[in-house]
Amino acid sequence: MNKFAILALGALFLGLAACSPKTDEGGTTGDEPTTTSSTEGGTSTEGENQVATLSYASDIEPIIKANCMQCHVGDGAKEGFDVSSFESFAKGTSHGAVYTAGDTSGSLLVKVINGDGAKQMPPGKKMSDEDIAKITSWVEQGANP
Ligand code: HEC
Repeated sequence: MNKFAILALGALFLGLAACSPKTDEGGTTGDEPTTTSSTEGGTSTEGENQVATLSYASDIEPIIKANCMQCHVGDGAKEGFDVSSFESFAKGTSHGAVYTAGDTSGSLLVKVINGDGAKQMPPGKKMSDEDIAKITSWVEQGANP
């Protein structure tokens, strides 16, 4: 019986090790990297289907800063839409949010960058297809920070 339990634990740890090649949280004092046995539940379901999830900070912000910052920043931001931080970006214009997570067709942000049913943004100068696709996918994936 014990032998089986040990084998099962071993398999679990091997599985965990395979699923998480890098430790991405350095929050606590990592003085026990591999020896915890009772606290580890092993409920890591990610690692199987890793579609790259876009995030505002690493994927979207650079595009927005390069293309929108010029007119949408600070107190004088057009339509009150200030893109200088994720918080203000998420707040949207003085009329409200410019996107709904997961809803591309209902998001003003997606419309303006396509010039489709809304004013073209940036005005008179469409961004590259790649940038437009990235922003669209980001909204579709849930608009992660
Ligand atoms: C050259 C200046 C300029 C740039 C660059 C610019 N905008 Fe604008 N934006 C405006 C102006 C001006 C308005 C106000 C509406 C108008 O007068 O056309 C506006 C309005 C908006 C609105 C509100 C539209 C509405 O119908 O309520 C959104 C959303 C928006 N911009 C998003 C963006 C995004 C996203 C970018 C970058 C991809 C961007 N803008 C780049 C000038 C700019």
